[in-house]
Formats: sequence, C-alpha cells, structure tokens
Amino acid sequence: MGQGTPGGLNRQGLPGDRKGDGSNKKEKKFEPAAPPARVGRKQRKQKGPEAAARLPTVTPLSKCKLRLLKLERIKDYLLMEEEFVANQERLKPQEEKAEEDRSKVDDLRGSPMSVGNLEELIDENHAIVSSSVGPEYYVGILSFVDKDQLEPGCAILMHNKVLSVVGLLQDEVDPMVSVMKVEKAPLESYADIGGLDAQIQEIKEAVELPLTHPELYEDIGIKPPKGVILYGEPGTGKTLLAKAVANSTSATFLRVVGSELIQKYLGDGPKLVRELFRVADDLSPSIVFIDEIDAVGTKRYDAHSGGEREIQRTMLELLNQLDGFDSRGDVKVILATNRIESLDPALLRPGRIDRKIEFPLPDIKTRRRIFQIHTLRMTLADDVNLEEFVMTKDEFSGADIKAICTEAGLLALRERRMKVTHADFKKAKEKVMFKKKEGVPEGLYM
Ligand SMILES: Nc1ncnc2c1ncn2[C@@H]1O[C@H](COP(=O)(O)OP(=O)(O)OP(=O)(O)O)[C@@H](O)[C@H]1O
Ligand SMILES: [Mg+2]
Repeated sequence: MGQGTPGGLNRQGLPGDRKGDGSNKKEKKFEPAAPPARVGRKQRKQKGPEAAARLPTVTPLSKCKLRLLKLERIKDYLLMEEEFVANQERLKPQEEKAEEDRSKVDDLRGSPMSVGNLEELIDENHAIVSSSVGPEYYVGILSFVDKDQLEPGCAILMHNKVLSVVGLLQDEVDPMVSVMKVEKAPLESYADIGGLDAQIQEIKEAVELPLTHPELYEDIGIKPPKGVILYGEPGTGKTLLAKAVANSTSATFLRVVGSELIQKYLGDGPKLVRELFRVADDLSPSIVFIDEIDAVGTKRYDAHSGGEREIQRTMLELLNQLDGFDSRGDVKVILATNRIESLDPALLRPGRIDRKIEFPLPDIKTRRRIFQIHTLRMTLADDVNLEEFVMTKDEFSGADIKAICTEAGLLALRERRMKVTHADFKKAKEKVMFKKKEGVPEGLYM
C-alpha cells in the first residue's frame, strides 16, 4: 500500500482533479456546484478556520476506483497532518515545559533572596550556611542547585524565609577588583618622562621582561623578581612611570591605591587583597600596581585601635600573597611610595620586593628635558629663556616644573595674551617656590 499510495498521489494529484473535470463529462454534470462556489467564497471568508478543517468533497460519488484513490490521498494527507501536529506537540512542550519549570523554580526560590556564605556541606542535601548577620543555620539544599559547584566559602543565594540554599552566586569577583582593572590605557608613555632612564630600564627588566621573555631568566637559572618598589620625593614621576608601563604593556594592568585596601568591615581588607591577587592570577600575565603603599604598609608596632590592627592584617595578607604559597608566576607587583622609611622591613626584604628603584630629584639635564616636555605644546614668546630655570639652584621636582609651566600659561591667559613670556615664567616660578617653601596650609593661616 505504501508504494501504491504515493503513486496514486502522483497520478491523481491536483492535475488529476483537473483531468476529472476535463475528461469525464459525467462528472462535470455533478459540477453544477461550481456556480455556487462563488457564493461559497463568501462563506469561506466567514468561516475561516472551520473551512480549513473541513474535508474536501470527493467528486465521484459512486463507489469506484477513482474515488478510492482520492479518498486514500486524503487519508495520506490527514496522516501527514497528524504526524506534523504530533511533532509540533513533541517539540513545543519542551520550551513550554522549561518555561513552566523555570517559573516553578522561581516560585520556590522566592524573592528577595538573601545572600550568604556556605560554611560546610553536611551531606547531599544539607549544609551549614551563614548570613552576614551572624548566626549559622543548618538548612536544606534544593535539588536544582548544582552541587558540583558548591564548595565551602562560596557565596550562595538563600530563600528569604526558610534559608535553604536556592542558588549559587557564580561571579563572585569583588566589584571593587573589577574596577581596578585598567581597561583604557593611560595616555602617558615613556616618551613623556624626562630623564629617569635608569629607572625605566630597571622597571623594564624587573617587570616587563619576565612577563614577555621568561625563558631568558630560565636560561640563566634565576627567578625573576616578584616586584619592584618605586620610592622618592613627591612629584618625581613614580606614578607617571607606572602609567607609562600600563600604557606600553600588553599584560593586564591592575591598579590600586593603598587607601582603597582599607575597608569598613573586619576582614574585608585582607579579603580584597586576596581577591585582587586571585583576579591578577586569572588574568595573568598581569601587573599589579599599588600606589601610596604606606597607607597599609607601615611598620608593625603595638597597635591599640582595632582599625590599626585591621590595617596591619591587610598588610600581612599582602606579604602572604607576595610570598605566594600559591605560586604567582605571571603576576608582577609594582609598589610606589614617598615614605619608604616608614614601611615595614618585612615588606621590602629580599624575596618579596627585591628591587628598590629610587626616584631622585631631577638633575640639570633631566630638568631641561622635563621643561621641554611640558612646554612642548605651549606658545612661547621669543624672550623666554628656560635655561635660567634649568640652571637654578632651587630644588625642583618634576611636578614643580609642570606646575611652573601651567602657572605661566595661566598668567598669560589672565592677560589674554596668546604667548607666554619670560616674565610669566619668572612669576610662576616664584609663586610655585613660595608655595613649596611656605607650604599651602601655613599660607592659609596667615
Ligand atoms: N621625570 C618627569 N618627566 C616628566 N614629567 C614629570 C616627571 N616627574 C614628574 N612629572 C610631572 O609631575 C606630575 C606628578 O608626578 P607623579 O604623579 O608621578 O608624582 P609621584 O612621584 O607619584 O608623587 P607622589 O609620591 O606624591 O605620589 C606628573 O603628572 C608629571 O607631569
Ligand atoms: Mg604618586
């Protein structure tokens, strides 16, 4: 039959109908139903879906082979339709079912959900959890929670009333840490640094080279330094150099300011440090830059207030991370401070931060170069003689030189001049030096 019917289908397909119309005159006599067909159109319009469900009329009404074939054809169509509908049902419910399940799961989870910590897994379906409020609870784990991913210490979602574990917070990277990642490279490059050639060389050797060419160190048989510390007078370009490193390196650059590591709640500071290094490890090769490290790295002494002790714990965690019980192969650390003498000696001992890079006040050559860099985009009058400032005996830092240039520009702007004159520079220098000697706060009390 299987073979017969398709044949019938082909032979007696739609053309077959027309054949019947054309060849069999007897059948045509039954056709007078045709004129009413126009009326039927109107009906069809009215009965849209019903008409589609109705079976077509089979024209030879007498029992004959043709009628049988036509009926068989209709039967085939119906079978096909049935199969199609069955398939649709088989496919559709999957989505709908999933949707239903999801809404059911959401109902079970409840909302809002509280966030807690998993302390201990007791068995397949039970665990001890703690919320930030304090007490620990013995609760159930709902079946739809992926138990493979549950591990002590991870952040979980708990039902707000019965506190059972209803979910897992997967992305547990501290948002503070993700903020620290430098996405947009700073504009400062090595070319913007005046002098400091030795320092640039050293930082390249200690930080960039081990990340890009670790094999060189392997050949010689030494372990590359874990990090460097940049120290020196304020405004000598420490942060600037770190920015240039961030600008040029292809490694991930994470930057933190020491004060950011001091957190409100007990244990949050060390946790942040751990998190920071974990992320650095995940994204390795990477460079961690901690500016103003003196905020957390001061000498350990008998701390009296809880806050001080907490800061020390943060530093101890930093030491631990630098020591790297978990090896931190591709993570390099750059610290910067202007008060190296106040740092804990443990932080600076060999094996942790091996390289200490000093940033001295600029010498004459460097001063000239820094003046050049900062006056590059200024419109200078012909009488400007920067040599006078370069050769001066006053002590300038790079930041002072920048301040002088900016101040001179502002003075010219005040008088609506398009060019900056020598007199402007002189006045600016006096102003900057005065502020530096007197100190701004004293000026305020005058
Ligand atoms: N060698 C230098 N070449 C060019 N510009 C410099 C140099 N040193 C300092 N500057 C200028 O001084 C500004 C301040 O420098 P920077 O922020 O690096 O100081 P710092 O050493 O980090 O000081 P602090 O210890 O106070 O943080 C820089 O933005 C830069 O414009
Ligand atoms: Mg700085």
